[in-house]
Amino acid sequence: MPIENNKLKMKLDRKDILKALETITIAGEGKNMVESGAIANVITFGDEVVVDLVLHTPAMHIKKRAEDDIRKTILELVSPDAKIKINSKVEVPDKPEIKGKSIPGIKNIIGVASGKGGVGKSTVTANLAVSLAKMGFSVGILDADIYGPSMPIMFDVENEKPVSVTVDGKSKMKPVESYEVKILSIGFFTAPSQAVIWRGPMASKALNQMIFDADWGELDFMLVDLPPGTGDIHLSIVQSLPITGVVIVSTPQAVALADAKKGVSMFMSEAINVPVLGIIENMAYFTPEELPENKYYIFGKEGARNLSEDLGVPFLGEVPIVQSIREAGDYGRPAAMQTGSIIETVFEEITKNVVQETVNRNESLPATEAVKITTMAGCSAVKK
Ligand SMILES: Nc1ncnc2c1ncn2[C@@H]1O[C@H](COP(=O)(O)OP(=O)(O)OP(=O)(O)O)[C@@H](O)[C@H]1O
Ligand SMILES: [Mg+2]
Repeated sequence: MPIENNKLKMKLDRKDILKALETITIAGEGKNMVESGAIANVITFGDEVVVDLVLHTPAMHIKKRAEDDIRKTILELVSPDAKIKINSKVEVPDKPEIKGKSIPGIKNIIGVASGKGGVGKSTVTANLAVSLAKMGFSVGILDADIYGPSMPIMFDVENEKPVSVTVDGKSKMKPVESYEVKILSIGFFTAPSQAVIWRGPMASKALNQMIFDADWGELDFMLVDLPPGTGDIHLSIVQSLPITGVVIVSTPQAVALADAKKGVSMFMSEAINVPVLGIIENMAYFTPEELPENKYYIFGKEGARNLSEDLGVPFLGEVPIVQSIREAGDYGRPAAMQTGSIIETVFEEITKNVVQETVNRNESLPATEAVKITTMAGCSAVKK
């Protein structure tokens, strides 16, 4: 009967849909979305199809891309008349298994960089660290900003000094611990007025000691707060440390974005080749804490988000300008520690994205080795 046949023609077949979805791979996952378990269910009713999608990343751009790909693929490969509904769910394990080799005992070394100074690298480092610690990770911070170390103040340990301990017959310095974060900073060894003596080779030597002659113990994450710019100290760090990846901090302002772009290019250059895990937009907008729905985009809107799209690197999230972030930094208790605050939630989201991008990176790339740069210009470099 012709009417029946027409009806039959319009009936979508679940198997055809699954076959079509096998052509899609979600960013950061090695297998196609059916094999990886991202397609929890497919149900068809005539020309309607409902796809249940389970993502293992909270990154919004990955969710959007997966949904767009599903729609496009079904319309192209199965039926241009299909009516598609997608139910997406995000399931991120609280503490994902972290792989990746680096220096013994330290699983992931993450550099926090920016091109421009004063955009909030140290603030972001401190808040990421406490947020990671709250999620149950063991965390250390290496404050590598020889020009202006901030961690002792931000963690209220300005007057402390690392003590010496003996490990396997060797004398090592024990990082200072505050809010469950282990910290070593050049600031522990010098008064602020003496910072200048750390420039050049002495700074590299001091950094090496803080990395290798220290008793860091087991760490899931070591965050390295880098000085601003793309200078010698950055080269020195990538030559000393097998960095898992870097996170770039930028404000939405054009001058900061231009410098952030330089930073991304430097890390991604063939000579350095350190993965960029993503970009964090700091000072994204001003919000009075008592009126959090009021947002004032004083440095421009979504500049860092757009930059991450242009450069094809993940966008990890945005941090508003909030007075309590600045106060908490000066007071020595990172704002993300404040239970129930907006800033706690903001950093939880960003931290989850950083963890997820680290997991993705470790699944898709071999461990980064320390880079051996044969010329200071970094024009010709080989891996150790
Ligand atoms: N989201 C924010 N809201 C309010 N104040 C902020 C925010 N982020 C950073 N600040 C403040 O801005 C100033 C600069 O931040 P921070 O020291 O973290 O920047 P930086 O990039 O590490 O600077 P440098 O390049 O000098 O190392 C600090 O006083 C800090 O408290
Ligand atoms: Mg800083």
